[in-house]
Formats: sequence, C-alpha cells, structure tokens
Amino acid sequence: MVQFYTFLLLVLAPLFPTSALAQTFKPDPGNFPVKGDGDFAGGIFSLSLSDLGKYTTGGSGPTPEAPSGAGTKTSGSGPYPARMLTDSTLPGHTIFAPKAIPAGNLSMPFIAWGNGACTLNSGTYENLLVEIASYGYVIAADGTPTGSSGTSSQSKVQDMRDSLDWAFAGKAAKYGNIDLTKVTTAGHSCGGLEAMSTAYHDARVKRIMMFNIAIFQDDRRYLLAEIKVPVAYLIGGKTDMGYSTSAKDYALLNAGLPKLRVNLETGHGGTFSATNGGKQGKAAVNYLEWQWRDNATAKAYILNGGLVKDNWVVEQANW
Ligand SMILES: *[C@@H]1O[C@H](CO)[C@@H](O)[C@H](O)[C@H]1NC(C)=O
Ligand SMILES: *[C@@H]1O[C@H](CO)[C@@H](O)[C@H](O)[C@H]1NC(C)=O
Repeated sequence: MVQFYTFLLLVLAPLFPTSALAQTFKPDPGNFPVKGDGDFAGGIFSLSLSDLGKYTTGGSGPTPEAPSGAGTKTSGSGPYPARMLTDSTLPGHTIFAPKAIPAGNLSMPFIAWGNGACTLNSGTYENLLVEIASYGYVIAADGTPTGSSGTSSQSKVQDMRDSLDWAFAGKAAKYGNIDLTKVTTAGHSCGGLEAMSTAYHDARVKRIMMFNIAIFQDDRRYLLAEIKVPVAYLIGGKTDMGYSTSAKDYALLNAGLPKLRVNLETGHGGTFSATNGGKQGKAAVNYLEWQWRDNATAKAYILNGGLVKDNWVVEQANW
C-alpha cells in the first residue's frame, strides 16, 4: 500500500516544476515554435504546475485492471533476456537492453523514454522497459535507476534529445546493431508529453507512444498539426487523467495519420509495475513488433481481437 501511494505521489504530485518560470512560448494558432522544448518539464505539449489543478480531471471509480501489487522482476518474456544498466557515455540516463548482443546481427529499434512526473527515476519502469528490451530493443530512459530522492528536479525535452543524440552518434552500438530508421519516443504521463515534444520537428523520430496522457490544454492542441508520425495512446480508462484529453487529441491528429487509442481500466498508474509490465507491456511489445518488424501475429493482436480479448477498448484508423 505504501508503495502504491509513493507511486501515485511520484506520478501525480510533482508533475511540473514548482518554480514559476517566465513563460516564453505563447500558444496561439499559427505560432509553431522551432523546437519542442517549451517552458515546462514535458515541453511544449506540457503545462505549468500552477495550471495543473485546472486540468487534472481524472474521475474516480473502480480500476479493475490496476495491478494488485508490485510484480516480480524478470529478464523479460522475449527471446533476448534483458537488463537495466547505466552507461557512463550517457550520464543521467538508464539503458535497457538485451544482456548479450542478439545472435545473427539482429537489427534493433531504438526507444527514448520519459518517466511519469518527468522524474529522474527510471527504475520505476524497469518491469515494462526490460520486457520491451527482451524482444530486441535498446532503450535509453531519462534519469537513473534509483533517481534522486525528493524528485525536486525533472527531465526536460533536452534530456530525451540527449538519448537520441547519443544513439545517433553511434554510442548505442555496443549493445548491438541499432536501426536508427526505427526510432520511437515514448513515456508515461509527463514523460509522454515530453516524448511528443521531443518528436516535434525532429525527423529522426518515427513513432510516438503516449502512456496514460495527452495534451491538457485546449489552446495547445493546434500544435498537433506538426506531428507527422503515427501516434499510439495507451490509456487507463475513464479514471485516467489522460482519458478525455486523449479522445480530443486522437480526433485532432492530422487527417490520414495512422493512429491507435486503446483503453484498459487501470487508472493513471497503468500496469507498469506488474510482472513484465502487465497488459500494457504486452500491448506495447505487440505494437512495436508490428510497427518495426511487421510481425503479422503482433498486428493481429492489436487490430484483430487480441487487445479486445484482454479487455482493452480499441480505436484505430489509417493503418
Ligand atoms: C550488422 O548489420 C548492419 C546493417 O544492418 C551492418 O552494417 C553491419 O556490418 C553488420 N554487422 C555484422 C557483424 O555483420
Ligand atoms: C511474431 O511474434 C510472435 C510472438 O512474439 C513470434 O512467436 C513469432 O516468431 C514472430 N514472427 C516473426 C516472423 O518474427
């Protein structure tokens, strides 16, 4: 229980910086900043702490799919047992990768990850990220495995960009054959907004995955016009603060853009902490295996009944 509340606190309380910053970016249709950094943790798609109360409208109610306790740590369920580690060539970050370079020079997609509340504690997501890595992915997450106590500092868009720059400088090659044409930014809550802000005007990013989050403020949704790659929303149902906001964003994405919005009644906390990241881990792996390896089984899991069987409500278009 204590763990659960600590988790909630981490996710919800320090979502945005406490210090009031002078806002330099003014949302205004037609005002598209060159870069997605913006003024707050989470970047241009995010908001200030002082505005947070106005927008967090996650309802209350049962969350039958929320994990009942912390899961077991594994090396992932995929073919390439994986681990969490730090790497001195990318300070302030955490790597999730197969323990051994996969045989056959397997080409591995790259993912940059941001944590809920934009904390610098990526260990919170170990179960989910090790699971994904075990299918042959290399992930660089903001923050360190244990983070800083107090979480007074938060990641910024530049931290996630540092992960991309690191991979594109060839520094992830020690983990195997990285395919830099297959790059995803992803994150939970504030980290998801950071993923979208990092992808904004950065052509290196080819997919965006938003866990339990979407844009809070109506006056920033016009920025979605600059999102040109497929977006997947993995949301926690009606009690999730990302529920109604993701419905709005999903509808507003550019015409014809492939998009996915799936809901499971977990609330804002998702299933990250469950063994192998629970049903969100399974959904994420199948989505990625479909997108990056064109795996027909994985595609069918997402589009043709697998998610529904696992109690997800699925919306999708343009694939
Ligand atoms: C692995 O594959 C990449 C291209 O995907 C190639 O550039 C590299 O030389 C290969 N390495 C080995 C050891 O075969
Ligand atoms: C597709 O994914 C399934 C489930 O992970 C796996 O068993 C299968 O080998 C994959 N197919 C290909 C062609 O990689």
